[in-house]
Amino acid sequence: EKGTYPHFMLKEIDEQPFVIRKIIQKYQDDHDNIKLDSEVRQAMLDTDRVYIIAAGTSYHAGLVGKQFIEKLANVPVEVHIASEFSYNMPLLSEKPLFVFISQSGETADSRSVLVRIKELGHPSLTITNVPGSTLSREANYTLHLHAGPEIAVASTKAYTAQIAVLAILAVDTAQAKGIDLSFDPLQELGIVASVMESLTDQKEEFEEIAKEFFSETRNAFYIGRGMDYFIVQEASLKLKEISYIQAEGFAGGELKHGTIALIEEGTPVIALSTQANVNYSIRGNVQEVAARGAKTCIISIEGLEQESDTFVLPHVHELLTPLVSVVPMQLLAYYAALHRECDVDKPRNLAKSVTVE
Ligand code: M6R
Repeated sequence: EKGTYPHFMLKEIDEQPFVIRKIIQKYQDDHDNIKLDSEVRQAMLDTDRVYIIAAGTSYHAGLVGKQFIEKLANVPVEVHIASEFSYNMPLLSEKPLFVFISQSGETADSRSVLVRIKELGHPSLTITNVPGSTLSREANYTLHLHAGPEIAVASTKAYTAQIAVLAILAVDTAQAKGIDLSFDPLQELGIVASVMESLTDQKEEFEEIAKEFFSETRNAFYIGRGMDYFIVQEASLKLKEISYIQAEGFAGGELKHGTIALIEEGTPVIALSTQANVNYSIRGNVQEVAARGAKTCIISIEGLEQESDTFVLPHVHELLTPLVSVVPMQLLAYYAALHRECDVDKPRNLAKSVTVE
């Protein structure tokens, strides 16, 4: 039930801090260490390459998950769009592990990959919000997202839950391999939950930005580099699907290779800068588009901020920034859709779970 909320989407955005805390609780043992199914741990130790298969927002979570698994656990990862993988299977490594990410666990494109790789005899893990779902039943192992029912077609809390569970999986694998991590992941996730709360408490700020940038426009661009590039792809999908604004998320460095031709007087460009190694260069990209007439806005993070930034996110561990930087993006899309009088929870032409290929 929506309770006092006008839309499920807004309720689900607000639930994210609770979901992260629930995940911490569910994946923590009595000594505050990570608790994970030992079979899943073994599968991660046995594989020489993880193949993440997903669609839409879950695919975007997979892009972030790849960073965690490669950087923390030192296991190579490929991320594939399910519908592409089915018809164009890449060369597989000797000991692949397939990880299906799916809120509903019913996405037909992902299921057809699962059927195919089972025929080939490869092991599979499903990360889902619905443990009894098809993808969960048919895979060898399941990790549960514990996000509670997600009703709005636009996925929000499932995305952040997916990222949190992928972080836990990566850290668990790293620890099992004896890799020394210099941070306490569950404690850092606790900080993330508090920061998420502070962001959902500042909705008016994002409503104002949405009004200013998205009330009139036909198109919009989001730019980011490194980890932020994955978040801007999710930001643009959110905006497209519920507000029907033509939006794209670009890698900042790619603009000059073609996209910058689209910038006109007043084109909205939202930039995200949460990563120290690209802070300088993404700001350069903002200047390039501003010089060609774009209306720009920078969302940055404490420690990297500049005075002119539109919003500065509170500090969290650098790898976990997606969990907090996506919240403003979700709220921007929500308010853009609201002010354009779109059907926020049930956008046209879309279904909550896509059970046809
Ligand atoms: O249930 P799934 O996670 O497998 O769904 C995948 C996509 O259909 C889904 O994420 C879709 O892109 C959302 N509507 C995005 O908000």
